[in-house]
Amino acid sequence: MGTVPSALKHCLSYQHLLKDQLWIAEPPAAAQPAQEPQASGLPEYIKIVEVGPRDGLQNEKVIVPTDIKIELINQLSKTGLPAIEVTSFVSSKWVPQMADHKEVMRGIERHPGVQYPVLTPNLQGFHSAIAAGATEVSVFGAASESFSKMNINCSIEESLERFEEVTKSARNMNIPVRGYVSCALGCPYEGNVVPDKVAEVSKRLYSLGCYEISLGDTIGVGTPGSMKKMLEAVMKEIPLSALAVHCHDTYGQALANILTAMQMGVAVVDSSVAGLGGCPYAKGATGNVATEDVIYMLNGLGINTGVNLCAVMEAGNFICTALNKKTNSKVAQASFSTGTIN
Ligand code: HMG
Ligand code: MG
Repeated sequence: MGTVPSALKHCLSYQHLLKDQLWIAEPPAAAQPAQEPQASGLPEYIKIVEVGPRDGLQNEKVIVPTDIKIELINQLSKTGLPAIEVTSFVSSKWVPQMADHKEVMRGIERHPGVQYPVLTPNLQGFHSAIAAGATEVSVFGAASESFSKMNINCSIEESLERFEEVTKSARNMNIPVRGYVSCALGCPYEGNVVPDKVAEVSKRLYSLGCYEISLGDTIGVGTPGSMKKMLEAVMKEIPLSALAVHCHDTYGQALANILTAMQMGVAVVDSSVAGLGGCPYAKGATGNVATEDVIYMLNGLGINTGVNLCAVMEAGNFICTALNKKTNSKVAQASFSTGTIN
């Protein structure tokens, strides 16, 4: 059984009411993905992909100092998280917050066994990322034409041509490529997105060589019902072991949507420390589901993540203090005595 850091001891306000201490998970026997489901039908291991330093910070109005970003990533690296999305090699005219991508990439301390993917929309971004030391990249497409145009200034078809250039170069260099499909459950410009379109774009990315397809509910409008329908369509085209879900929590459905995806066998979940985030090209969309809340739920389900929740809460406290923001994590709010992080 792990121990609660002293800084948190005073603030585990409801801990005494609970038989199970869900802040603390049993240490994992081995933090390896288990393909076999539990008796409950849920996966035994969930891989959490922490997207806070990228998705969480990209939408912040005030430029976050580079050393704060580096310190956040360094703290997250010590939590047991298996993957931390570090930054984006995109145009600084489009996303000024990510302009320090090279410095961040070069400044972080990399821990053995932790993946540090970065976003690369095209070959130019890919080359810059590799030059800065990236060892894994992600391309990001969409299932909506309008969002594709607004986000990366090209059609879906054009984006796939650009991604093919990236995946070809990456293959030659043994660099793994992850693929995102945004607007998997709805688009800020077009509204409904049909599951078959999500399946089609996912299949194209997978056939280009993306080892994993992360299905993004970019504006957080999905429900367990639409998640189920979308996944049924995608699972006809892509092996379950290659799927991840990436849920924003705008409508408060993210945990329910993640549970639905897990019940269908999805074993990779993206989340953001303190629930920070949003996409600059999806107005009104709030942050990703909070990493703290996902881990708390998984601890309660007895699902192994290998992640120390208290350590993630401390990293959340660090970044919220630095940004002078209240955490979006319900678990962190409930655990700190004042209900806010300050
Ligand atoms: P563009 O203007 O169409 O590009 O932008 P271009 O090829 O015509 O080049 C124009 C200028 O951009 C040139 O510079 C290029 O050098 C430069 P100039 O000559 O004018 O000085 N440029 C670049 N600079 C840096 N890095 C690059 C790069 N490529 C060209 N890679 C581009 C196309 C994709 C670059 C632009 O639209 C862009 O940067 N978009 C950013 C999109 C973004 O980061 N969105 C947020 C992340 S996606 C997200 O949050 C969703 C996700 O979380 C999943 C979900 O929630 O659904 C992943
Ligand atoms: Mg996102």
